[in-house]
Amino acid sequence: MKLFLDTAEVKVIEALSETGLVDGVTTNPSLVAKAGGDFFDALAAICRAVAGPVSAEVVATQADAMVAEGERLRRVADNIVVKLPLTFEGLKACRRLKDKGHPANVTLCFSVPQALLAAKAGAMFVSPFIGRLDDIGEDGMALICDIRTAYDNYGLDTQILAASIRSEAHVRQAILAGADAATLPPPWFEAMVKHPLTDKGLAAFLDDWAKSGRGGLV
Ligand code: G3P
Repeated sequence: MKLFLDTAEVKVIEALSETGLVDGVTTNPSLVAKAGGDFFDALAAICRAVAGPVSAEVVATQADAMVAEGERLRRVADNIVVKLPLTFEGLKACRRLKDKGHPANVTLCFSVPQALLAAKAGAMFVSPFIGRLDDIGEDGMALICDIRTAYDNYGLDTQILAASIRSEAHVRQAILAGADAATLPPPWFEAMVKHPLTDKGLAAFLDDWAKSGRGGLV
């Protein structure tokens, strides 16, 4: 399962990439606006920091203009994936970009039928938004499970990218649901490594070692 960072903060991405555990990055217009600075400079820096896919979203709403923006984004780096909204215009752009050799991440997916259309349009990734479904009283994680079933039933190779992750439970459930990837806000990525018993156990091991009078191993 791939782990992506859901942020446009270059310094945060660079720091967390040092773990060797970051497989890619997703951005969206809201995250880019929040990060500030020059969009294309930031995107180039992000693409240098991670070897894997970096999703960058178009802001046009018509297919022709989306394709033009997608081609512009793809000129930033080879690992750019063009992020497109799940509309008919976005799906048309997805197909056209795919036919020209450009990968796409179809975003703002909230239903199984939408996910099927994204796969038929040739998307490399589909991004179901778990948290935003939970916000309206629906079960976001059930959607991940249902898309997994649908894609497996029909042998569709679009990768399910669990997005809008808002809790540790979302992270755990996305792993168990068979999502191909999850994109995590940095605090949830950092939380993955933490468990109080790990900290407690390590403190006890080191304490016992120190009490034995031994030093470092090298
Ligand atoms: O990248 C899109 C997605 O992860 C947004 O999450 O928390 O704004 O719903 P959120």
